Amino acid sequence: MTSIASKTTGWQGGGNVRRVVFDQETIGQRVRELGAEITRAFPEGELLVVGALKGSFIFLSDLVRAIDRPLQIDFLVASSYGSEKVSSGAVRLLYDPAVSIEGRHLLLVEDIIDSGRTLRCLLDLLKVRGPASLSVCALLDKQLMPSPPPEIRFVGFPAPKAFLVGYGLDYAEEYRHLSFIADLG
Ligand code: IMP
Ligand code: MG
Repeated sequence: MTSIASKTTGWQGGGNVRRVVFDQETIGQRVRELGAEITRAFPEGELLVVGALKGSFIFLSDLVRAIDRPLQIDFLVASSYGSEKVSSGAVRLLYDPAVSIEGRHLLLVEDIIDSGRTLRCLLDLLKVRGPASLSVCALLDKQLMPSPPPEIRFVGFPAPKAFLVGYGLDYAEEYRHLSFIADLG
């Protein structure tokens, strides 16, 4: 089961990792492209890049180094309300960006869009704070949203409908540190 992961990365630690879906080089190349796209896409003005923790932490740190313009960085931590089994989709912020969003171009960085419920809630929360513009950059999109919001302007890769781990993505807080993205099966 770990043969591909072992062969391409030398990583021996994952009894459950089925297959590498995006290797380190492929991710690196795409992140550099996204950085160039984002550099071109925003007009003058203050750009605030907000990473949704924890899943975006590795992606964000690579992405911002590929963006060639002044920017500021902050984070938010969202938590689902209620029981895990019944996903109402409602989220609350456990940590809020410390700086003001008003009047700034806000780029929300997400690890993966699955049902899109988390994202919709975050967009609603952020819109009312009066950013100059609101955009989303997601590393992965499972493309399950019937009508994706127009704020999703930058996507790294369409994702397979599998459970993915690595490069920030976790399963029960494990696997986040992998430099590649794998299918947990
Ligand atoms: P959504 O609200 O259904 O779009 O779920 C989004 C959140 O669920 C992401 O930010 C991740 O934290 C988590 N998630 C969804 N799919 C995966 C996956 O394949 N691997 C790891 N985490 C995932
Ligand atoms: Mg998670």
